[in-house]
Amino acid sequence: MSADAPNGGFNLWQGRSLRWQVMAAVIAVNLCAALVAAAVIVANARRATTVEIGSSLAIAARFVEETVERLASAEGGAASLTQLPVHISGLRHVRIRIEDAAGNVVDLAPGAGAAGDDDSEGDVPAWFADLVTVDRMERDIPVAENGRIIGRVRVTGEASDEIAEVWEDMSDLALLAFAVNIAILLALHVVLGRLLRPLKTLSAGLHELEAGRFGHRLPTPQVRELALIADRFNALGTALKAAQDDNARLNERLIRVQDDERRQIAADLHDELGPCLFGIRANLESVERLTGRAEPDLARRIAERTGTIAGILDRVQGLNRRLLRRIRPMALGHVPLAAVLADLVADFENHSPGRTVRFEAHGLAERYGDSIDITIYRCIQEAVTNALRHGNARTIRVTLRALDGSGRLDLAVEDDGSGMAEQAAPGFGLLGIEERLGALGGSWRIVPASPRGTRIEITLPLGGAPSGAALDLPIPADATRLNAL
Ligand SMILES: Nc1ncnc2c1ncn2[C@@H]1O[C@H](COP(=O)(O)OP(=O)(O)OP(=O)(O)O)[C@@H](O)[C@H]1O
Ligand SMILES: [Mg+2]
Repeated sequence: MSADAPNGGFNLWQGRSLRWQVMAAVIAVNLCAALVAAAVIVANARRATTVEIGSSLAIAARFVEETVERLASAEGGAASLTQLPVHISGLRHVRIRIEDAAGNVVDLAPGAGAAGDDDSEGDVPAWFADLVTVDRMERDIPVAENGRIIGRVRVTGEASDEIAEVWEDMSDLALLAFAVNIAILLALHVVLGRLLRPLKTLSAGLHELEAGRFGHRLPTPQVRELALIADRFNALGTALKAAQDDNARLNERLIRVQDDERRQIAADLHDELGPCLFGIRANLESVERLTGRAEPDLARRIAERTGTIAGILDRVQGLNRRLLRRIRPMALGHVPLAAVLADLVADFENHSPGRTVRFEAHGLAERYGDSIDITIYRCIQEAVTNALRHGNARTIRVTLRALDGSGRLDLAVEDDGSGMAEQAAPGFGLLGIEERLGALGGSWRIVPASPRGTRIEITLPLGGAPSGAALDLPIPADATRLNAL
């Protein structure tokens, strides 16, 4: 499932960083905990408020009853409604309402029925008050004068200041919890960042290995488990580097053995077969001269045979020359490399009318040893052949540089042809270049030339064992797939 389009829908979770996921999980858990805590606090607050208001109501009702009775006995059996407010003020969690017999409210003294006058009541949001509020509780206490009911005192439970207290406690708690959570999240952010940094380094390291840079090593992280992974990574890198070096050494030896063998075969063809063929031709010419002394019929028949032999000899000598050219340019090792290459390029130009093939050499030594000389020769040969054959190029530029102190040769063959086809199938030519360069620790890439055509760039390290530098050069994304050869 792709992280970008999981199930084709919007997905908040997939593809997020580990830090994001852990922090989101912690926030979600904390939010759930906060909701549960709020629900518990509200349920407790309701229960406590019910109990508190119930007992306050009972106390207030008893106090009012006693007051009414006391006033009635003190004033000669009559409790005056107007005096009552003075005696029953200041009761908590209840509201007092005094009515005459007709149901009209008798004014309370200031401070009576204190509940509900609390300032804090106004700060409590209505939704919270609705959540915590309890069932209405009230008691009516009749007031009699001379045995006649002259009014009543209604005592009503009033939860607002209790709710205000709960709200205040909850607000303080929520503020504290919020501050603690922010602190936890900040700490988590920092700790996760420190923990995850080695993973990023590991990922970058794997990238290096993927690109073939096996010399890359990871620093040891401070977390034990991650330190183990880093150790294993470094051990893997060492093993891969050793295998790569072995491989490169073997390849180089293989190429050297091949080159030696080819040189030997070329020498045999040149020094043994060449003189033999020359000897046959000299003898043939001698036979032709002697034929003049034979009788005409015999002379004609001998001339026919010598003509046939001469034809075969021409073919064998031509074949020998072609073989020699293919196996090993004889001039290599005897003439300076730049001259051999200039000769090769000139040969291409001579055999390709209407095409221009330019060669530039900068800072070249006379020779670099058989393997490197032949490799450069073959690379130019193949690249120019390809440019003429596949790109149908008009102009081809071959540039070979040995920059002072760089310890390498840089070769570029650029043409103004049709460019690499999208579906170009790899052949033996580029495969041969890949193998030779790989054996000598070189690298190569094909890029589009500007404004048109193809450019092949080759780098060959000089001196000794291949360094594995082949893979140190970045191969750009736009390099053709033939680079994978
Ligand atoms: N300079 C170039 N311009 C255009 N296409 C090229 C160029 N060089 C290589 N190609 C493409 O890359 C392919 C592979 O080249 P490669 O030299 O490996 O094989 P080949 O030339 O087809 O065969 P071989 O070299 O074995 O005779 C070619 O067939 C061609 O399509
Ligand atoms: Mg080719």
